[in-house]
Amino acid sequence: MKIAFFSTAAYERDWFTRYQGHHAITFLEETLNAHSCHLAKGYEAVCAFVEDDLSAPVLQALKSQGVKLVAMRCVGLDNVDLEAAEEADLTVLHVPGYSPYSVAEHAVALLMSFVRQIPQAYTRVQQGNFSINGLTGQDLHGKTVGIVGTGRIGQAFSQIMLGFGCRVIAFDPKPNLRLLNSGVRYVSLQTLWAESDVISFHCPLNSHTANLLNADAIAQLKPTAIVVNTGRGKLVDTAALLNALDNQKLGGYATDVYAGEKGWFHRDFSGQPITDDELNRLRLHPRVLLTAHQGFLTEEALQQIAHNLLLQISYFQNSRQPGISKISM
Ligand code: NAI
Repeated sequence: MKIAFFSTAAYERDWFTRYQGHHAITFLEETLNAHSCHLAKGYEAVCAFVEDDLSAPVLQALKSQGVKLVAMRCVGLDNVDLEAAEEADLTVLHVPGYSPYSVAEHAVALLMSFVRQIPQAYTRVQQGNFSINGLTGQDLHGKTVGIVGTGRIGQAFSQIMLGFGCRVIAFDPKPNLRLLNSGVRYVSLQTLWAESDVISFHCPLNSHTANLLNADAIAQLKPTAIVVNTGRGKLVDTAALLNALDNQKLGGYATDVYAGEKGWFHRDFSGQPITDDELNRLRLHPRVLLTAHQGFLTEEALQQIAHNLLLQISYFQNSRQPGISKISM
């Protein structure tokens, strides 16, 4: 199958090339959107990622050019208009099951780096400053960790936090029996907001979860609470969160995602002005630790994404069975 691969990054070419088999992949650096979708002409499939635009007009344009399949090399499908895809009779595939440890361990890395001030400590040592004044952190052992969403990634994160000796509470409309048995207590969102020292987001972004952590919710948190977000930027109201940090109403924000990340993340703007004021507030705030959506970026996850997606594409090609054209989230 001829596949137009949008938003290609150097780190993923190797694995997709290794597993491409009989498929013919054209790697494009362009982001998929209304301006670039003409590049998919002559291809049966497009492969896209979190920064690509798969709204109704783009999907309709792809369909009219002969595209039959949209293969998303990610878990979340919040940037795909699934109803429009179904109407256009486009099959949408994604990779639901790749290493959840990649993201869960990144959430832990963010949390640990934040509480032990590792970026500040690293910078000091680089500068020959071996003073440790002002770097006092806190133990995670014994703290209450609230987890929003205990699917694959939330479960992996819970298990690590239990291993740290934390008390783990969780909110999920579909509680996980295995986690219940391992000591996780499911609570209401209100209880989770009120009792947690650390809150970590692992639920999908959809109409129910957009702005889940808004000003009202932030007002219910402990003023020392640390929020960790490896889910999606739009799960939190960034402006309300920054205001709470400025007013000492919140302890910190360690995040891999940002609501306005599209167009910025996964690109190099070194030496150029960053014109997004909210992004500047986030990346320069002393109580924020920000990475640019790299939770999935481990060798294991990249290998599994490439292998799994190309297998699904082969299956689609061989059977012409519809894959996932509508997903309940
Ligand atoms: P999953 O589908 O295994 O688990 C999601 C869980 O969230 C489910 O248990 C579901 O019942 C729960 N949920 C649904 N609505 C909820 C709500 N309103 N409140 C609380 N929980 C709710 O998904 P998985 O693989 O664990 O991924 C979770 C999210 O992580 C993805 O949707 C994606 O947005 C994000 N992600 C981020 C990555 C990164 O690189 N930073 C990489 C991969 C995923």
